[in-house]
Amino acid sequence: MNLSVNLNKIALLRNSRGSDNPSLEDYANQVIALGAQGITLHPRPDHRHATSQDAIAIAGICKEQSVEFNLEGNPFTDSDDSFLGFAEICAASKPDQVTLVPDTDNQLTSDSGWPAGYKAKELEAFLSSHQIKNTRTSLFIDADLGALEFAAINNFDRVEIYTGPFALACMEDDALLIESQSSKITAVIQRAAKLGIGVNAGHDLNLTNIPQLKLCGLIEEVSIGHAIISDALKYGFKDTIMQYLKITREA
Ligand code: PXP
Repeated sequence: MNLSVNLNKIALLRNSRGSDNPSLEDYANQVIALGAQGITLHPRPDHRHATSQDAIAIAGICKEQSVEFNLEGNPFTDSDDSFLGFAEICAASKPDQVTLVPDTDNQLTSDSGWPAGYKAKELEAFLSSHQIKNTRTSLFIDADLGALEFAAINNFDRVEIYTGPFALACMEDDALLIESQSSKITAVIQRAAKLGIGVNAGHDLNLTNIPQLKLCGLIEEVSIGHAIISDALKYGFKDTIMQYLKITREA
């Protein structure tokens, strides 16, 4: 299981003071030096954390050091005052992977997957656009077989399973709920293997629930942001990244 570290929260802290401290580039370099396989950014139109320029800069660092850069976002977000627009950020940053989410502009965080059939025509046009030529495509979906089939019809390379409900079940330590959420994830993993689609996972993952997630089957990559930065306050950034690398490598 590869680890892609989402650095949005470093950008959030930096933006709160309007300077370059903490430096996103510095933390990206630290994550890479420690051995993480990827870095994720999810620039939003309000630029409250990662900006369009951050995505371009961090993509450059990843490229230089042969580490995957994963760009998340709603493919239909257009440019406005300072936000370049998702397609334009793709063109400028040339991510290794795009993860498409159905977020609205001011959404607090991604809280559901792409519904089967949603904006099918527009999605098809985006997927064949030159901005993402040579980029691996991943669709953020709920642990739902209908959504997976929709990803397959649209020739996505991967899906990212939204693990929010799974993580909530783990947090509440509710054995029945953990079992039902885990079996949904397992069903998607097994069907995806038959369809030739890779599986990523993300949202609310942490050191406690990753071992349980691994029991569901083969997941190629997890992208983790919030818990890493929260844990870094307790253990320090370097130690935290090393703990996450250890737990994901043990897959
Ligand atoms: N995957 C997607 C699509 C997301 O939007 C986010 C949050 O930016 C994550 C994964 C990471 O979630 P978390 O910050 O809870 O680890």
